[in-house]
Amino acid sequence: MRIGLVPTMGAFHQGHLSLFRASVAECDVTGVSLLQNPTQFGPAEDLDQYPRNEDRDLNVADAAGVDLLFVPTVDEMYPPGFASSVDVGELGTVLEGAVRPGHFRGVATVCLKLFNIVQPDVTYFGRKDAQQVAVLRTMIRDLNLPLELRVLPTVRDADGLALSSRNAYLQPVDRGRALALSRALRAGLDAWRSVGRSDGAAGAARAVLDGTSGIAVDYVEVADLDGPTLAAAIRVGSTHLIDNVLLDEEQP
Ligand code: PAJ
Repeated sequence: MRIGLVPTMGAFHQGHLSLFRASVAECDVTGVSLLQNPTQFGPAEDLDQYPRNEDRDLNVADAAGVDLLFVPTVDEMYPPGFASSVDVGELGTVLEGAVRPGHFRGVATVCLKLFNIVQPDVTYFGRKDAQQVAVLRTMIRDLNLPLELRVLPTVRDADGLALSSRNAYLQPVDRGRALALSRALRAGLDAWRSVGRSDGAAGAARAVLDGTSGIAVDYVEVADLDGPTLAAAIRVGSTHLIDNVLLDEEQP
């Protein structure tokens, strides 16, 4: 029997649904975990505001054919005396890891716990969080986890904005500004294809972001995240948004 697991933090959108559907299609049993994992949020981050709608999530998962929704409490996952965590090395300190120190330690630790609890044969993740995928692929290899990692493409709105639970924070004017992120990556990809150089790709993307008012750029860089990837993060008001394109693959 093939068991699939999709770890999530809830507030399901079409990005989550694409992972559920893939698991339902490829596995005999599909489990989805839902936990707003406190250890991957910094003290000044948005854990308290993170969108929550468990009843709706339950219905959405059920309608997608998910067999089991696992919703542990924070206390169950981190009882008093909890002390161990996964050191994810250098990759955890760059890009998102530089902006959010300790983030990937929290992600890797909770995922390892979920893998041990559910014992899936395959686990599903979105390319949207490319560095998360790279960190988890490294952990799975380094710690010999008996598990296949499946990565699915980023699901976007028609205007290009990558779906994210955090998009719910955006007022209409900020949503317009946020579109610069996917436009910038597109420009970077075009530059990569015409000149074939990573600095050209990052430069073209940065030019689009620098030319957009009302946003702050956290980073825009080419890195090896499961293949050469142009990754960027911006802040629109207090909302942190990330996106990326895989440079060597056909993109929609
Ligand atoms: P969350 O942000 O809820 O995302 C759950 C999964 O959905 C992740 O694998 C993420 O990459 C994927 N996803 C999110 N937006 C997507 C999109 N637009 N297209 C495709 N996939 C998308 O990522 C986390 O939760 C947490 O860090 C977690 C792994 C659950 C650990 O707490």
